[in-house]
Amino acid sequence: MTAVDGPGALPAELTLVGPRPLRGRIRVPGDKSISHRALLFSALAAGTSRLWGLADGDDVARSRAAIEALGVRVRDGAGNQAEAVVAGERADPVVIVRGTGFDGLVEPEAVLDCGNSGTSIRLLAGLLAGRPFHSVLTGDSSIARRPMARVVDPLRAMGARIDGRDGGRLAPLAIRGGGLTGVRHDLAVASAQVKTALLLAGLQADGVTEVFEPARSRDHTERLLAAMGAGLEALPGGGVRVERAGGLLTPINLAVPGDPSAAAFFVVGACVTPGSDLVVEDVCLNPTRIGFVDVLRRMGADVEIAVKEERGGEPVGDIRAAAGPLRATAMAGDEIPRVIDEIPALAVAAAFAAGTTEVADAAELRVKESDRIGTVAQELSQLGIAVETRPDGLVITGGRPRAGLLKSHGDHRVAMAAAIALNACDGPSTVRGWRAVASSYPRFAADLASVTS
Ligand code: S3P
Repeated sequence: MTAVDGPGALPAELTLVGPRPLRGRIRVPGDKSISHRALLFSALAAGTSRLWGLADGDDVARSRAAIEALGVRVRDGAGNQAEAVVAGERADPVVIVRGTGFDGLVEPEAVLDCGNSGTSIRLLAGLLAGRPFHSVLTGDSSIARRPMARVVDPLRAMGARIDGRDGGRLAPLAIRGGGLTGVRHDLAVASAQVKTALLLAGLQADGVTEVFEPARSRDHTERLLAAMGAGLEALPGGGVRVERAGGLLTPINLAVPGDPSAAAFFVVGACVTPGSDLVVEDVCLNPTRIGFVDVLRRMGADVEIAVKEERGGEPVGDIRAAAGPLRATAMAGDEIPRVIDEIPALAVAAAFAAGTTEVADAAELRVKESDRIGTVAQELSQLGIAVETRPDGLVITGGRPRAGLLKSHGDHRVAMAAAIALNACDGPSTVRGWRAVASSYPRFAADLASVTS
């Protein structure tokens, strides 16, 4: 595997020569969703939290920079072995957050730039809607296209004053916070980002805030807030209720488990590349995140999970995957929120499977870092695979994907899906736009090389 360097730390292109089996053991970066929450909630706690193994991509760096701009002291404690021992003798770098509580946050001097991170902008919108000062949230050209009404409208229903492009449907968002009142929210779309934003607003609002979703989204917020002592109540029908009094958070020492969405690329890579047998260690095995394991098993894949411990309220353990023949499957309905970020990887599995795989009820894919229905279809076609797009999904007929030139479309997950597909193909290939992986997994190419050499 070679890299073509450009300005910046990451290469503009990744070149691979396949097929190369994935073998041995690997650890992926800390979970991105948990990392954003661990930083934000630590900022809101009264006292010092220590966080090991936070995701090292640009997205989580944006959340860290935002809480620093809000007056929270954050420092790197890397190399302090005494502290590493607290988290179970792990060598991961530690980040130390001196929480101020909600009331200690200060008005930021500058615009908060969330880069490519949808989680940063939406979670911060909920947090800042409750603070009695002005703030502005923005991001890159992808963020400027992504829907914000889903978070702005319910926050306005709580009394938040938020302006933005297109009447508040698009970033940048200007927030004059404070004076919130709790209401019941029935979300039109299952979204953990929106749910979290509303819970963070609810912890600062008068009265009671309740959030109901049409299907269950990832529940890291509920688990971590509970682990930090928040008063959170699960409601019948899958809802969550919070009150202001529930917002007294205690600091936490947390070793963030590996990201299942990052693990999914290696797991699928192992399933589709003959001769592979790989273990991904220390992964978050939260059931709302490992739907991709169920899908792969339905496809006949040889994949096992083993829960080893619990950290921050999350089950953590290993995923083992080995190569074998795959057959087509269908994904739809309530399963979609549990696999939403893994669909680019699962689409690669479908490309190597016998038969036609259908993905439906997944219109959300159109408003991710790229329009993933369009971008995944375009790249699978480049591999010589027959793909049909639908407004809410994809129809993929598996075959014999061939090596070639694929593009990331500026989307980290499309870039990594392309890399694992090409790693399984015969001959030399290239992924153009490789720098997109900086959002979540800057060292992906090195990690892939470490298990394929
Ligand atoms: C995330 C929630 C999901 C997911 C995103 C991370 C989170 O987005 O796709 O990558 O950390 O809450 P939605 O809330 O838009 O479904």
